[in-house]
Amino acid sequence: MDNITIALAKGRLGKQAYKILKKIGLGDSIDLDSRKLIFKDEKNKIDYIYVKPSDVVTYVEKGVADLGIVGKDVILENDTDIYEILDLGFGKCKFSIASIKGQNIYKKDDTLKVATKYPEISKKYFKEKQQKIEIIKLNGSVELAPLVKLSDVIVDLVETGDTLKANGLEVIEDMFNISARLICNRISYRFQYDRIQRITNLLENNL
Ligand code: PRP
Repeated sequence: MDNITIALAKGRLGKQAYKILKKIGLGDSIDLDSRKLIFKDEKNKIDYIYVKPSDVVTYVEKGVADLGIVGKDVILENDTDIYEILDLGFGKCKFSIASIKGQNIYKKDDTLKVATKYPEISKKYFKEKQQKIEIIKLNGSVELAPLVKLSDVIVDLVETGDTLKANGLEVIEDMFNISARLICNRISYRFQYDRIQRITNLLENNL
């Protein structure tokens, strides 16, 4: 029997995923402090791969990983053909539009400049609101953009709100709630159903 492969996201979410996997007895082989990218758990027949959050969906879609644990933000931003099995309930935060206080985000005929790490989500959201936008794609520290007048607003994840506050910004509109999800490759879901269901149940009963 081949091992099941689970893709874990590097960073905050990966640490929280690791804690849950430890709790249900599946995480003993994982060592997040090492530089290793594959952890093999021969007892439970599971291999873990440890990758950038946005790559989790790619590894799962391509079938290299059968399962993945990743934020809903990554799922929404990347249009991939995967199966979302379970809301894991951790990594809770919000997608929000934020800017300097008092900024009007709906400008009838004007183009709104939006700085974000999430261009696809932003485009879709503002299209539904019939607001013309120009996307300024950034890779981090997005909160800087309105301060230096690179953009009118930002679209970003807000967890504690500390980063916004520290930079004198405020949420102007909440877009939607985000949390960690268990995702599955569509073929694995059919052919490895029993093993995947066992892992899903273990996770679900320990949330
Ligand atoms: C995320 C997000 C915000 C911040 C929100 O960035 O993009 O900047 O966290 O968290 P808070 O509401 O608790 O302050 P991350 O820390 O991943 O770094 P980055 O800006 O370099 O992407």
